[in-house]
Formats: sequence, C-alpha cells, structure tokens
Amino acid sequence: MGVSNEGGVSVKVACLAGDGIGPEIMVEAKKVLDALSLPGLVLWDADVGGAGYKRHGHPLPDETLQMAKAADAVLFGAVGDPDCDALERHLRPEQAILSLRRELTLFANLRPATMFSGLEEMSALRPEVARAIDLLIVRELNGDVYFGEKGMRTTDDGQREGYDIMSYAESEVRRIAHVAFRAAQGRAGKLCSVDKANVLETSVLWRKTVIEYFAKNHPDLELSHMYVDNAAMQLARDPNQFDVLFTENMFGDILSDEMAVICGSLGMMSSASLGTQQNSHDLPFGLFEPAGGTAPDIAGKGVANPCAQILSGAMMLRYSFGQLQLASEIENAVRKTVTIDGLRTGDIAFGCEPVGTVAMADAIIANL
Ligand code: IPM
Ligand code: MG
Repeated sequence: MGVSNEGGVSVKVACLAGDGIGPEIMVEAKKVLDALSLPGLVLWDADVGGAGYKRHGHPLPDETLQMAKAADAVLFGAVGDPDCDALERHLRPEQAILSLRRELTLFANLRPATMFSGLEEMSALRPEVARAIDLLIVRELNGDVYFGEKGMRTTDDGQREGYDIMSYAESEVRRIAHVAFRAAQGRAGKLCSVDKANVLETSVLWRKTVIEYFAKNHPDLELSHMYVDNAAMQLARDPNQFDVLFTENMFGDILSDEMAVICGSLGMMSSASLGTQQNSHDLPFGLFEPAGGTAPDIAGKGVANPCAQILSGAMMLRYSFGQLQLASEIENAVRKTVTIDGLRTGDIAFGCEPVGTVAMADAIIANL
C-alpha cells in the first residue's frame, strides 16, 4: 500500500530535531525529503529535549507531544544537552524520547546493522568479515529497567542507595517476539533471542515466553538463545552468524552501539520505532531516529554525518508511508555517495579528506 494524493491526502511528518548535531542533520534530511517531491508532504517542526526545556520549560512540551500525535510519523534527531546535566531527572532532555516511546506505545525498535561497501576499513573487524555484515537488531522499547520504578533511598547505615526496578510482562515479550518473527520472514529467517536468563528473573520469563510463542506459532523457524555477554562477544567475533537478533530494552541499547562501531560509525545507523497504532494512511505510525546521539563535541561545527538522519527518513517512507521505491532511492543515493563517489564526513573519513554535513547531503541529493 502506498500513499496517493487523491483528494489531497497529506503526508504529515513531525520533525523533532532536538539538541547537539540534531538540528544540523535534520535540516539535511528535510532537504532530501523535499527533493523527492512527494505529493502532500508537510514537514512540521517542534522543540524537544534540551531545546524544549530551554524554550518551554519542559523536554517534551505539550505542543510537541500533540504535534507528534497528530502526525503520521515522527522524524526525530537526538536529545541530550550538557547544560541540562544538573536538572532533576524528569526535566532532562533524554526524558523526551523515553516519554514519546511510552506515550505513543512505540515498543519495537528496528536497528539495521549493515555494512556500507567502502567502510570496511572503518570497522574494528577484519575487512573480509566486516564486508558481509547485514543483521537486524530488534530492541524492545517500552519495558525493562528503563521504565520500572526508580528512586533514591537511604539504607539502614545511612548511605544513599539508588534503585531501578527491572520487569517484563509476558504480553510485552510476546509482542516483540512477534515483531522479530515478522522481520525474520522478510530476511534469512534466522532468529536469536538475547537475554541473561542465567541471572535475571525477567530474562527467565523472557526466554520461557519466547520459547512458548515460537513453539505455538512458528515451530519451523530457526530460533536460538544467547546470553547477552556472549552475544556481545559473538558480535565482535563474527556478526555474520546472526540474521535477526531480538532482545530486551537495555541489552538492545548496548548491543546496537556495539554494532554501530563494528559497522564503521554511529553516523550511518538509522532506526525505526514502531508500535500498535496505525496512521491516517492505515500504515504503522512510527518514530524514526538515528541510533547515535547528540555528539556535543562536534555540534554546531557543520561536520556531523547526516547519513543516519537521512536513512531514518528512508525508513520512515518505507514503514509509515509505504513508499518502498522512494526509500530505496534514498538508500541507493547514500550508498553511491559513500561507496562510489567516496565522499566522507570526518567520522568515516579514514584517511580521505573529509567533507562537511551540507556537502555530504548535497551530494546525496544530487545522486537521487
Ligand atoms: C538510544 C539512546 C537512548 C536510549 C537515550 C538517549 C535515552 O541511547 O536510543 O539508544 O537509551 O534508549
Ligand atoms: Mg543508545
């Protein structure tokens, strides 16, 4: 299903650039989307994260949340601001993305880890291993220690003690197992569930529920289980043994950063967060964001890699608007720019003369 513009159907995207390099790379992703001349495309902007706090007193101002809810998809930049480090937790920039994930029930985070040809040299792995990397991390995004009760208390001997409760309900595990299954269907069909069932009760339930779900619904699928410490090691040793790896919220956070460096740079990694809702096109409502962060060390210098943001836009077109062709066009343009033209921002330069954010995006647009 695609989006037609008959009757003036609009394609509404809430662009939440956020902090650090977010605004610089968002501008470029919007330029790419504009260049596609998608009928009915409207790009809205709103403040989020540290920018939300500074302008409106809250990391997720109500106008921003309402805009996200009214849109068909959210294109998100990054949040985090050293100026906000001393704020109480509920006012910190990171709360914005966590609240959006919860408020919009975006429980499934897809983080493809693919090697762009030409970037093998950037990988920590040998080029012949790195060349073939193509796996998908499916990260649960609404549960775990991220959203359990947390707080600070005083122990009997007068020390401060912080705590974060970690929990998973069966239904939460089942629904992410189902997403992982769907993802594997469109790929090599091999699934690995990652947990820490030798230590954690949440993981014992995770593994049991995953086994039951697959035995009942998809008994023929190739399913394996791995402890997270071993998974971290196996990813660094031979990522090509995996096809779809699905895991708990916190483990997925960590393993996806590991995969980013194995694939060359966080600056190339996009992600899609999908949930239970459909948008006005009867397609999944989603939030699409680079897997990387705000990179405060290079923010404002015009050197950030815009690829992850641009590729997140491609994922948005694919999942939330059914525009498979346009999504592939963007991905091919990025590939051509990096691989054939050899243009590189500083994070992936590896001995080449780096280009800036705008030059990189302009080259991608020229390759569309
Ligand atoms: C990510 C980020 C977030 C997370 C932060 C910004 C809260 O690291 O999307 O991976 O921990 O999920
Ligand atoms: Mg992370």
